[in-house]
Amino acid sequence: MKKLIVYLLLASSVIACKDVVNEVPDTPFSTTPYTFSFNKTVLPPVRIPKDNPLTQEGVQLGRMLFYDPILSADSTQSCASCHNQTDAFTDNGRQFSTGIRGITGTRNAMSIVNMMWHLDGFFWDGRSDALKHLALIPIEDPTEMDETIGNVVAKLNRSPMYQEAFKKAFGTGAIGDEIIGKALEQFMLTMVSGNSKFDRVVMLKTEEFTVQERTGQTIFNQEATPINEELDPKNPKNFGGDCFHCHGNSLFMSRNYMSNGLPNVTDLGRGATNGNPRDNYKFKTPTLRNIEKTAPYMHDGRFNTLEEVVQHYLSDMTNATANLGDEPNMHALRDSVYLSEEHKAALVAFLKTLTDDDFLTNEAYSNPF
Ligand code: HEC
Ligand code: HEC
Repeated sequence: MKKLIVYLLLASSVIACKDVVNEVPDTPFSTTPYTFSFNKTVLPPVRIPKDNPLTQEGVQLGRMLFYDPILSADSTQSCASCHNQTDAFTDNGRQFSTGIRGITGTRNAMSIVNMMWHLDGFFWDGRSDALKHLALIPIEDPTEMDETIGNVVAKLNRSPMYQEAFKKAFGTGAIGDEIIGKALEQFMLTMVSGNSKFDRVVMLKTEEFTVQERTGQTIFNQEATPINEELDPKNPKNFGGDCFHCHGNSLFMSRNYMSNGLPNVTDLGRGATNGNPRDNYKFKTPTLRNIEKTAPYMHDGRFNTLEEVVQHYLSDMTNATANLGDEPNMHALRDSVYLSEEHKAALVAFLKTLTDDDFLTNEAYSNPF
């Protein structure tokens, strides 16, 4: 109801100012509210920051900025250079991204998807708490776009196209860092994935899994069972992968920074951000939506295939770098579940049902230029 009133107010201000638009070009400005079209039974309720309501004009502007190399020092790199739609907004299969001067970073580019439900921070170490702030970080990162916000502001202010677009979206042609961040935030919030085979089978019940995918689903959602030769090797329930504890619910991610038992990790991750040694070598638990498209895997891109990832989870984790003692769900993984070749393949087949072709091809997320 509250929202409706805001929309009505906005709508009436559109009508009210139409006649006088030439006399007072900057105030007040009219915008069109943005409405989401995803299926509401599949994903949690919409969550938009109070200080940045989504408008079609703001989203469109954010989309332009996302795809425009003007944000980088030598105009060679846009956000999309490392966040490519066909790879679910990851970096073209690269282990580490290469920034504008050929400098390589140390982390694997993350997928940008369902961002409004990431409640506990952004980046592998959670060092950013809001998308509108995050959006400015890659611009100044010397291994990414290596530009200053001041220069970006100056360049955008020189562009009649951006003057016009910012006026439409934020009512001002005086472009500053706050509204650049907000526009990018608006666009990223619209990137929603909720139409995979998983959604159609499990949430909407309009399709069915193959037998293999269903076996994989059982393994994914089953508590791990220590190896026991007396168990029936054909029954997937006896060989749970215990994935759901950390990649559960319809977002396939969790709110915690965790360790999944990787050996030889050198990046302190969350611990470097919050200074808590118990969080050393822990990372954001990433979503598994569109995971088929986002190889290589992990914060350091160490695994090239989902088969390698599954093999890691089946391995003995005594050499894990992080202390697994304080990981609530690691008991299961450490106990080394055993999966037959058939069960491993089934788990991978289930993970592939999270691919959402609509998301990967939706024109609304594509290059507007
Ligand atoms: C040179 C490659 C590169 C460029 C250019 C780049 N990114 Fe990224 N992006 C990355 C990497 C690598 C990470 C992970 C960084 C980390 O954890 O420290 C990342 C992480 C992110 C995340 C975090 C996702 C999550 O789930 O926490 C968002 C959002 C994002 N980038 C948006 C952007 C935007 C917006 C731009 C343009 C202003 C941009 N990126 C430009 C490589 C890049
Ligand atoms: C204890 C929590 C936990 C459990 C249980 C768990 N994971 Fe993970 N998973 C993580 C964390 C944390 C990461 C990121 C680790 C990193 O990058 O260092 C991750 C990363 C991944 C990735 C790579 C994602 C990407 O974007 O690179 C895949 C794929 C994955 N997990 C699948 C699984 C599967 C399949 C299972 C069950 C066999 C499982 N996970 C069980 C916490 C967990």
